[in-house]
Order: sequence, then C-alpha cells, then structure tokens
Amino acid sequence: MHRAVRRDVDGCADRQTRRCRIPGFSVHRGIRYHERTGGEAVLISGGASSDYAGRMQPGQTLDARFELESLVGSGGMADVYRARELVTGKRVALKILRVPQHAGIARFRREGSVLARMQHPHIVRYVAHGAGREATWLAMEWLEGESLEARLARGPLTVGECVAVARGTSEALAFAHARGVLHRDVKPGNLFLPGGSCAEVKVLDFGIARVADATLTRTGSIVGTPSYLSPEQARGAQVDLRTDLFALGCVLYEALTGRRAFGGPNAVAVLAKVLLEEPPPARSLEPRVPIALSDLIEQLMQKDPAARPASASTVTESLRVVAAAELVHRAGAVPSLTDQEQRLLTVVLAHRPSPINEK
Ligand SMILES: Nc1ncnc2c1ncn2[C@@H]1O[C@H](COP(=O)(O)OP(=O)(O)O)[C@@H](O)[C@H]1O
Ligand SMILES: [Mg+2]
Repeated sequence: MHRAVRRDVDGCADRQTRRCRIPGFSVHRGIRYHERTGGEAVLISGGASSDYAGRMQPGQTLDARFELESLVGSGGMADVYRARELVTGKRVALKILRVPQHAGIARFRREGSVLARMQHPHIVRYVAHGAGREATWLAMEWLEGESLEARLARGPLTVGECVAVARGTSEALAFAHARGVLHRDVKPGNLFLPGGSCAEVKVLDFGIARVADATLTRTGSIVGTPSYLSPEQARGAQVDLRTDLFALGCVLYEALTGRRAFGGPNAVAVLAKVLLEEPPPARSLEPRVPIALSDLIEQLMQKDPAARPASASTVTESLRVVAAAELVHRAGAVPSLTDQEQRLLTVVLAHRPSPINEK
C-alpha cells in the first residue's frame, strides 16, 4: 500500500496537499494530488517523499557540460533552463530533475529514452540525457517562442490557428502511437509554438509517457493533469491511444472557447466533471467555430473511448473536413444552409479529388 504521508511534494510554499476523494469512485482512493493556488493540479499516486534538492542557479555549470542561463519553466518534478552546451556552444533546453528520488530518476530516464526515439517535425528534438554527479538531466533543442498555455492566456485562437495546432499535434501523436508510446499528458503547457507559429507546434514533455509493454513503477507516478485527463485515465483503468485523443479534444475546446472543457475550483470538482459531465458544444459558446470542428472536438471528448476517433491519423484526416468547413464558413456563401446541410457540404468538399489548401 502507498504511504499516506501528507507532505509537500516539491517543497513549494504555495502548494498544499490533500487526500483526493470522490464519493463513489473508489479508484481515487490512495491517489494524492497537490495543487497550485491557481487551481492547476497534478495528480500524484503513491507516497513519494519530498527529497527536495533545491534549484540550480543561472551561471552554474552542470557536469562540466552545460552552463545554465535562465530558468524558463517549472513543473512538479523538474525545472527547465535555457542553457548552453559548452563544447558545441549550442543553446539547449535543459530539463533538470528537482526531486532526486528513485521513482523520479527512473521516470526521467525513461523520458530521455522515449524522446530519443521520437524524431518528428512536431516533436521537440532530443539532444542528450544523463545522470551525472550533480543532477539527472535531459537536453533538448532550444525553442524560441511560447507554450500554447502562454498563448491562450492572451485569448483564444482563430479557427485557422486551432486547426493548425490540431494537425501538428495529431501528426505527432500518430507518430508516437505507431511506436507504442502514449503521451498521457497532452495539454497547453506541453505544446510549444516556435516563434508563436501554430503551424509549427511541437509536442513537449514525454515525462509520463507510457511505452507499450513497459511496467510502470507503482509509487510516485504522476498520472496526469485533471482538466485534460480522459475518464478512463482518471479512473485508473486501462488506457490506450484514445486517452491522448480525449486530451487533444480538451485542448482544442479551450483554444477556441477560452474555457476549459472541464474546469473547477479544485481537482476533485474537475475530476467529477471529467467523469460525469458533458461540456456544451464549442459551437454553442463560439458560433464562429465551424460545425465540423465542433463535432470533431465533441467526438474526441466522448467519455466512451469507442465513441472517439479510432486513431490520431483518423483525426488528421478529419481535419481535412474541418478545413473544408472553414472554407465554407469563411466564404459565407451559403448562409441559409441548416447545420445538417453544412455538415453534408463540408464532407463533400473534403472529399474533392484536388487537395484543399487549409490555412
Ligand atoms: N525545448 C524547449 N525550448 C524552450 N522552452 C521549453 C522547452 N521545453 C520546455 N520548455 C518550457 O518549459 C516548460 C515546461 O517544460 P516541460 O517539458 O513540460 O516540463 P515539466 O515536466 O516540468 O512540465 C514548457 O511549458 C515550456 O515553456
Ligand atoms: Mg509539462
């Protein structure tokens, strides 16, 4: 059994931990979570101890290989720095494990070896990973730009931008899934827009990715982020690639409407919604959203995995329909069509023999 010690996992003063209980959902017993005062929460199973090692300082060198320049991101277990590789002079993003605890080290190594296999235009490029005397680290290509999370803090995306993010992300997921890797933490903070470009979106953070047939450590495993968890992931049930598709649906919903599909004041409230509530269709909140895109998002967020698209490549293909719908929508050529007629028209357009240039 997991130890039920209540302790701040990473030592941050602005975080609190509580037992996570939803009456009637026994799967949540024994799962601990800690949350930021802002409501973003990360589930942590097991009784990870808080061997807080402290943060490295800009200017410090790491393992005589990297010089840290500045801290750019910080999650539950790791800090991300902009750094320079001393031998090559190249800039890298250096993710450094801040909780040097056994399960954390194993997970971090797995993140490095998984990322090393993921060479794809929409996945951050791996440079190296290692565990030296000073720290356990993962070096990646340095990306100038901002995360989708930072972008969304300024307001929703246009339909064209959202479709671009969706296409890049679904292609990256199809690539990972074909190699037996489930990301399991698709969310705006893990999607990066180099130079602010939605068309160049890169998937980050394979920190809790699951590799087919790999046995996961049972203690201290981060399960995911509540607002983007699929119901089966939230229940601790068996998950497959469709868990990533559910999360993608949540991301696209938020990107268009500016509202989380499953939001709430705390993780318990969010999880209850993930398990029990259907969010209103994106189009009912934002009429500018084409029907085909609203329908696709709704399908991605189905509680039953069997009702979701069967694969990430199916999603990429559906986005052709969406792009066609966007053409219809923007042209405003046939405003008198009913929703049903627009659906039919977009399907017909999407299957035209000539390629459609989506924005
Ligand atoms: N390769 C990179 N280039 C630039 N910034 C990055 C890079 N990787 C991560 N970041 C920044 O650090 C943040 C956290 O990175 P992530 O890999 O998601 O770590 P964590 O596991 O702590 O969530 C990202 O949201 C992004 O802002
Ligand atoms: Mg992350």
